[in-house]
Amino acid sequence: MKRTMLLTLAAVLAVPMITISTAQAQPTMEDRASAYRLGAFRMIGWHLGPIGAMAKGEMPFDAEKAKLNADAIAALAQFPKNGFIDGSSSNEIKTRALPAIWERRDEFDKMMNDFESAAAGLAAAAASGSMDDIKPALGKLGSSCKECHKAFRAKKN
Ligand code: HEC
Repeated sequence: MKRTMLLTLAAVLAVPMITISTAQAQPTMEDRASAYRLGAFRMIGWHLGPIGAMAKGEMPFDAEKAKLNADAIAALAQFPKNGFIDGSSSNEIKTRALPAIWERRDEFDKMMNDFESAAAGLAAAAASGSMDDIKPALGKLGSSCKECHKAFRAKKN
C-alpha cells in the first residue's frame, strides 16, 4: 500500500518536470527562420484576401481599403527573404522550403525581387483608386507567388 502511494506520488511529481523540460527545449535558429518566413507569407496572404475578393466582385470595391491592404503587402514583401537562412530547407527541418532554393539561389533571389517589384506595382495601382489598374497588377503579383511555389515549395508537409 505504502509502495503504491509512493509510486503515485512519483508519477504526479514527474508530470510538472516533463512539462518544464519541454518548455525549456528552445527551437533552433533554423526552425525560427521557417516560422519567421511563414509568418511573413501568412500576413501577406491575409492582406491579399480583401483585394482578391474585391477583384472577383465578392466584396464591394472600396478604394481606401484596397490601398491600405496593398500598402501592407508592399511593406511586408521585403521580409520573407530574411527567413531563408542556410540549413533551413526541407532536407534539414520540417518545412516546405525545397533544397532547390539553396541549390539555385540566384533564380530564387530573382523571383523574390520580381515578387517585391510586383507588390510595389500593386501598391502603385491601388493608389490610383481604380479597379482597372488594380486587376492587372494583382494578376502579376499572383503569378509571382505561383511561379515561386511551383519551383521552390514542396506540395505538402
Ligand atoms: C520567391 C519565392 C516565393 C514567392 C515569390 C512567394 N512565396 Fe509563398 N512560400 C514560398 C516558400 C518557399 C514557402 C514555404 C516556406 C516554409 O515552409 O518554410 C512559402 C509559403 C507560403 C505560405 C505559407 C503556407 C503555410 O504553410 O502556412 C503562404 C500563405 C504563402 N507562401 C503565400 C504566398 C503569397 C500569397 C505570395 C505572393 C503574394 C507568395 N507566397 C510568394 C516561396 C515564395
